[in-house]
Amino acid sequence: MQNYLLLFSLLALNAHATPTPTPLERGRYLSQAIAACANCHTPQGPSGPLAAKTLAGGTDYSGPGFQAYAANITPDRETGIGRWSDAQIITAIREGKRPDGSVIGPPMPVGMYRGISDRDMAAIVTYLRSVPAVKNKVPKSVYHFPLPPNYGPPLGRVAEVPVADKIAYGRYLAGPLGHCVECHSAPGADGAPDVVHNLGTGGVIFKGPWGMTVSPNITPSNLARYSDQELKRIITMGIRPDGTQVRPPMGVSYYAGMRSQELTALVAYLRQLPSK
Ligand code: HEC
Ligand code: HEC
Repeated sequence: MQNYLLLFSLLALNAHATPTPTPLERGRYLSQAIAACANCHTPQGPSGPLAAKTLAGGTDYSGPGFQAYAANITPDRETGIGRWSDAQIITAIREGKRPDGSVIGPPMPVGMYRGISDRDMAAIVTYLRSVPAVKNKVPKSVYHFPLPPNYGPPLGRVAEVPVADKIAYGRYLAGPLGHCVECHSAPGADGAPDVVHNLGTGGVIFKGPWGMTVSPNITPSNLARYSDQELKRIITMGIRPDGTQVRPPMGVSYYAGMRSQELTALVAYLRQLPSK
């Protein structure tokens, strides 16, 4: 009898171990794992991201025709986003418009972030409000080409994607939340990744302190040679079966924090992409 009671209380404990996350927990998880905001917004030192400058911006993302600097997205009131309302922060992330009306440019993945659900977006904002404010004045980005007036019509409600729908949730992770497909789709005529015609083809060139890397194809024509286990290891540990390491800017150290259910959905989604 006592054993049954013990078993029962252990089961009860277990059920309590995974309660619905609070908005702060959900926002922290999304930002630090799949969305990897810090991969761009936290400046890097010789041995990785500078913890004291978490999300304080300043990294130079200049490319052909533009000098872009990751913004300070800490709650600092002078140099960060501390004066912006929740609604203004959400409009900046999902629609690419700052409170002063100016448009946010690449490589901030606004086109992808349009698909982040209202609930997840609110959770991310809750998390951004919770990080320490860091004073760090970032230079203004300069684009020598016209930025689009907007990234689409004003957003209404963006509905939740049910976790139970594996492929749909995998698509949500690979697109809106993780922008995997933005880094892994070859540019179209306008120079921006063409996620409609070149979805998953790879072929985007990245230059940085790591030298130069080119994103590989992530459709089955390349990924079929990996088992699910191998693919998850590549994404979360950056090690291919032949022992070679995946180099930046692939956000491996962030994806290491992904939960297994989400990783499984992500892999299932990649597996069913049309081979390119
Ligand atoms: C691929 C790199 C990249 C990723 C990933 C990224 N950002 Fe950005 N973000 C930028 C750059 C670069 C800018 C500045 C663009 C400009 O100056 O027009 C920016 C601008 C912003 C701004 C506008 C701030 C301001 O003062 O202008 C906000 C807010 C923001 N990002 C939030 C986020 C959040 C939240 C995430 C994660 C969900 C995220 N970003 C992920 C590169 C990135
Ligand atoms: C900021 C751009 C960027 C993002 C975001 C990104 N990747 Fe990558 N990825 C790369 C680059 C670049 C490489 C190749 C690095 C190298 O040369 O080692 C790579 C490598 C890979 C590989 C190795 C394939 C092989 O055969 O070598 C896989 C698989 C992969 N990425 C999947 C993903 C998935 C899934 C996501 C989203 C969770 C993602 N990537 C997000 C840029 C990115």
